[in-house]
Amino acid sequence: MVEKQMVIGNLKVIVAKDYDSLSFIAGDTIATQIKRKPSSVLGLATGSTPIGTYKHLVARHQNGLSFEEVRAFNLDEYHPINKDSDQSYAYFMQENLFKHIDISPNNIDIPSGETPMPAAECVRYENSIRDVGGIDLQLLGLGLNGHIGFNEPDAHFPKMTQYTSLKQSTIDANARFFDSADDVPKHAITMGIGTIFAAESVLMLISGAAKAEIAHAVICGDITPKVPGSILQLHRNVTIILDSEAAAKL
Ligand code: F6R
Repeated sequence: MVEKQMVIGNLKVIVAKDYDSLSFIAGDTIATQIKRKPSSVLGLATGSTPIGTYKHLVARHQNGLSFEEVRAFNLDEYHPINKDSDQSYAYFMQENLFKHIDISPNNIDIPSGETPMPAAECVRYENSIRDVGGIDLQLLGLGLNGHIGFNEPDAHFPKMTQYTSLKQSTIDANARFFDSADDVPKHAITMGIGTIFAAESVLMLISGAAKAEIAHAVICGDITPKVPGSILQLHRNVTIILDSEAAAKL
């Protein structure tokens, strides 16, 4: 299941045989966190990569793991988007995780894609994370262009939750979930790099051959806002799980 474990700088790197093994190890890591601290604050991600991890967590719940005291924040949400639309990240989380486990709806927070005041929503969201004492474990995927959350390549690292424009490459990558690229919202509300960086621990998942190059840049390349995920090299508690295809260039 685990092909290789390495420490590269500050980063703990696990190479899993394939996507299923990656998902199993990631699910197990999150389950262990919840068992250690039932009131854990989780930062969660959407996208294709964590779907297998969430399936594993649902199976763990069916075998007795309780999420009753867990609090969950999501990395990001499109703007504008109706939360009930099946392309919203709120809907994704319901379908892939929340409706299958015993988490309390009061303990779920996702940036609002419906708000007419995104700047105020960013402040509310950041305060909401701070008020519960910060995130214990932040789950991340990695964009093809190196983005984490919707923090796109830029000239600087955005600090706090922000209202941001999506790069065309991200719109194109996410068009698969919409009728066409034109239907992908052009903006999003996302935790900032500072918000993510304040998490006690970070678990990044990278899957597939298409991510091999950017995985190498994030793990071994220069720390630069042009590759937002590269900032994780400076965090003291990051685990990155890759499948063997994504790890091909390490
Ligand atoms: C999702 C998110 C994004 C994705 C990234 C990878 O909440 O914030 O950064 O993690 O775009 O997406 P997938 O897993 O679909 O390749």
